[in-house]
Amino acid sequence: MSSAQEISRSVFLLFAAVLSVLASVSDAQGPGIDQKHAWSDASLSPDARADMVLKEMTLDEKISLLHGNGLDFSSTKPSESNGGAGYTVSIPRLGIPAIQMADSAYGVTRGARAGRYSTALPSNLGAASSWDPETVFEYGALIGRELRNQGYSMSLGGGVNLAREPRNGRTFEYQGEDPLLAGTLVGNFIKGEQSQNVIGDVKHYAVNDQESGRNAVNANIDKRSMRESDLLAFQIALEISDPGAVMCSYNRVNGDYACENSYLLTDVLKKDFQFKGFVVSDWGGTHSAAKASHAGLDQEQPNQYFFGDGLKKAVESGEVSQEELDDHVHRVLRTIFAKGLFDHPVVKQVPDVEAGMAFAQSVAEKSIVLLKNDQHVLPLDAAKVHSLVLIGGHADVGVLTGGGSAQVDPPGGSAVPPPPPGQGPSNRFLRQAWLPSSPLRAFKAQFPAAKVSYVSGDKVEEASEAAKGADVAIVFAYVWESEGFDLKTLDLPEEQTKLIETVAAANPRTIVVLETGSPATMAWVDKVAGVIEAWYPGIRGAEALASIVAGTINPSGKLAITFPKSDADLPHPKLVMPPPESERRFPGPGGNVTEFMSTMAKGLPPFQAYYDEKLKVGYKWYDAEKKTVLFPFGFGLSYTSFEYSGLSVSGENAPSVTFTVKNMGSRAGTEIAEVYCSLPEAAGEPPKRLVGWSRVELGQGESKQITVAISRDRLSVYDEGSDGWKLVPGSYSVLVGGSSQDLPLRKDVTLH
Ligand code: BGC
Repeated sequence: MSSAQEISRSVFLLFAAVLSVLASVSDAQGPGIDQKHAWSDASLSPDARADMVLKEMTLDEKISLLHGNGLDFSSTKPSESNGGAGYTVSIPRLGIPAIQMADSAYGVTRGARAGRYSTALPSNLGAASSWDPETVFEYGALIGRELRNQGYSMSLGGGVNLAREPRNGRTFEYQGEDPLLAGTLVGNFIKGEQSQNVIGDVKHYAVNDQESGRNAVNANIDKRSMRESDLLAFQIALEISDPGAVMCSYNRVNGDYACENSYLLTDVLKKDFQFKGFVVSDWGGTHSAAKASHAGLDQEQPNQYFFGDGLKKAVESGEVSQEELDDHVHRVLRTIFAKGLFDHPVVKQVPDVEAGMAFAQSVAEKSIVLLKNDQHVLPLDAAKVHSLVLIGGHADVGVLTGGGSAQVDPPGGSAVPPPPPGQGPSNRFLRQAWLPSSPLRAFKAQFPAAKVSYVSGDKVEEASEAAKGADVAIVFAYVWESEGFDLKTLDLPEEQTKLIETVAAANPRTIVVLETGSPATMAWVDKVAGVIEAWYPGIRGAEALASIVAGTINPSGKLAITFPKSDADLPHPKLVMPPPESERRFPGPGGNVTEFMSTMAKGLPPFQAYYDEKLKVGYKWYDAEKKTVLFPFGFGLSYTSFEYSGLSVSGENAPSVTFTVKNMGSRAGTEIAEVYCSLPEAAGEPPKRLVGWSRVELGQGESKQITVAISRDRLSVYDEGSDGWKLVPGSYSVLVGGSSQDLPLRKDVTLH
């Protein structure tokens, strides 16, 4: 190299270095944001910092924090949007950053349009089957990291609606049917997200339990049932995570829209639960300015039909007081400081893809539930199985995901290509997406000496022939679920039932793998040797499944939701459907989104859903009604077995439950030990409720003494008369075991 070349190379390198420093500074700080304000002092409390900013703000700046700026998914106009579902603008003069929001229930969504990758984790209900707060914390932390990687600072995930209606098309986004389990898990999920300096959001507040007519349905429910079930799940999640935001839901509750319901937003959430963050409306769930503001809504998304000029005028006319306005703004600002958006500006980078995949697999291994294992057909011994046929469910290429706003885009596009334009649904919400985690490939890797083949199952005769010729047949059945519609039934589609029955008739060693978002009924269950619930198992789902089938992983997942025998056994055998005038669906490509959103804002005629099963949600219903179920809440098999003994209960104020669990089998395993309690008859409660649990890892032959602390709050009931919780004095039965219907230990204690 000549010296002239060397000089120009050095100049170039110096120039490049300066540019990259400048770029990283502006990337990190956001446009025009400097750090030279009194509120830049991170040692001050978030409240003090918010107050300081508030004093400097104009009315327009205040209003700008209280609304979104249009549904921006497909906008080509330049804006501050990062391409997510919504955002609030930055205020550079005051150093206040934009809040960039992305849906992120089981991974960061809508990466495809911007060419971004994110990890698709197992569905939320799947991960809930781990009953593992630590796993769920890490699940949230991964999402928090990947949100930041992609330039987002707020998650829209954290669904904690209880499964009053298991046919709800969003059951896969929630955490099952028990308030303690669901609340604990979502709380840890949000805590994990927020550990990464993003805002966590708990949703959909409240009683938003069906998709059919969700913008019009009026959920009728008594206070006690709400407080002890649906709202308790939120309360527990809030206590654990102190979330930056709570999203109010589309539906009405006892007459008022959830986003203008002062009982829900002010009396319960802000006063009783002492929620310090901001309430954001579900997308298009705002229906007024003054009424919603008075009731406690802080921010409208994604538009400004009401919380833009409308709210400004209401403040100017005095209809909304300055104090009320300032409270909304304070909550948004406080959250920006408290959750790290101000002190730790987002810096984009490539997510750690490999780490994400490894973690997704570990979650799937804890989520998959072994439901049936006749004659120990599983695990399959790789040394003894010569041939294995996988049938149906696109098991050659991938695993299914849950759809709607939670949809994580599969890397490389859907492993099962969508139908060509014009054939199949035009609404992008209503398209199945399959992740490229191929069961065929994963099973070949686990069973290298066997002949592993695949048939589609489209022709049952062909499937039957293939099953006859194989040592073991594994049928992959699936039910796709998405925001926007409910399942008509928990039954599998008829052709899949027929496929299972035909294959089972051809091969006694038939195992069914289910990829579902909700429970499934199984009229065919006696005909097959094994059943595995894999849920929507995520980007490494097939690998996790194959490890469980081969026994390199011992299954440990347990159901967070009851599998009933039939729809007829549900509290509402028939789904409550809206009349046509109360139903509007999100428009497909080319449809008029603006027109749709403004119709939503105006509101649709209400129709009624009566939650007259009251306190009897999930297992409490089947217990109270003495209905036998297919697989109970808390159930899941292992390749080993566990024995329970030696129960003692001590302490009156915070009872402590101690017992011993022993691994009776010939291999190591993890048992989820569950503690339930029956309240005194005078409490008027369903037969029992979950009050605690512990995940216990046990080596072969090992036994451990476990202590589970029970919070007195979890033994209390809500008294509508005094609007408070009380412990009913009397005799309490503590029940311990491996599922809600297998509780070998019992001890009665008297509490005052
Ligand atoms: C869903 C929310 C979601 C929002 C933004 C709504 O349709 O109900 O859960 O966060 O859209 O995408």
